[in-house]
Amino acid sequence: MNVVGGSASTALARSLAKELRANFIEVAFERHPGGFPDGERYVRLLSPVAGEHVVLVQSTWPDTNVVEYFLLADAIRDAGASRLTAVIPYYGYGRQDKRFLDGEAISAMTMAKHIALDADEMLTMAIHNPDILATFPIPAREVSGMPAIGRYLKTTDVDFLLAPDGKAIRLVKEAAAIAKKPFDALEKERLDSYTVRMTPKRLDVRGKSVAIVDDVVSTGGTIATATRELRAQGARRVIATCVHGLFVGPALENLKACDEIVATDTIPSAYSKVTVAPEFAAAIRALG
Ligand code: R5P
Repeated sequence: MNVVGGSASTALARSLAKELRANFIEVAFERHPGGFPDGERYVRLLSPVAGEHVVLVQSTWPDTNVVEYFLLADAIRDAGASRLTAVIPYYGYGRQDKRFLDGEAISAMTMAKHIALDADEMLTMAIHNPDILATFPIPAREVSGMPAIGRYLKTTDVDFLLAPDGKAIRLVKEAAAIAKKPFDALEKERLDSYTVRMTPKRLDVRGKSVAIVDDVVSTGGTIATATRELRAQGARRVIATCVHGLFVGPALENLKACDEIVATDTIPSAYSKVTVAPEFAAAIRALG
């Protein structure tokens, strides 16, 4: 087995290759120093993959990484790989999952159709709407990132886990079972892209160290509002944890409210303190 990493996911691809005891195929991302002057992407596989099973790891966010994913997938197929497993740690363009207005592109499905042109199967993590997986013309499944978050929290002094909204209850339950800590959930109402409101609720957090567990941190509005609620109820320490740390717009300002930020390596950042390589490795082994 061989693993190729796009430039959005090189570190995770290397960790995955290690987990799978697979070859890591180096890729050149520039033909000439400085790349194409117009900024277009370039990829070249630096080892042969003819007749091989190749796992391609690349998050499809931001846009340039979408283009790079398709260039790599095509290069792998053109080089004669016998099987291509797409690992898309963060499925960018997954948010538009239906047509709200006539004439709109349903970007989550656009991605699915095009990924299936080269890949034999697709694995992703904490996708915005898992129903999209059923629209893939190839086998497609979601791998949970919660074991990684649970593993991390088990090693900390955290007393209590909190889901910031109803959608995250399933996630916090899974992380809490691994970390062996109690949990609760808040209810969230989204007012606009940047602002949310939490329904008041009594939580057993006075004097405690609390980890908020969410799938994605985007603007950080959800985490900042949940943190304010926790502080108001006497929490001693607040850790923000998420699978995908997008950290866009005012996120870093919002996250100053927390004592610590923990994300996985689906989107590499200074907060990627935990790897999801073991989770993807187990899912790939299970494909057979
Ligand atoms: C919402 O359904 C998700 O689970 C996250 O809570 C949300 O995407 C976080 O966004 P933000 O960081 O902008 O509040």
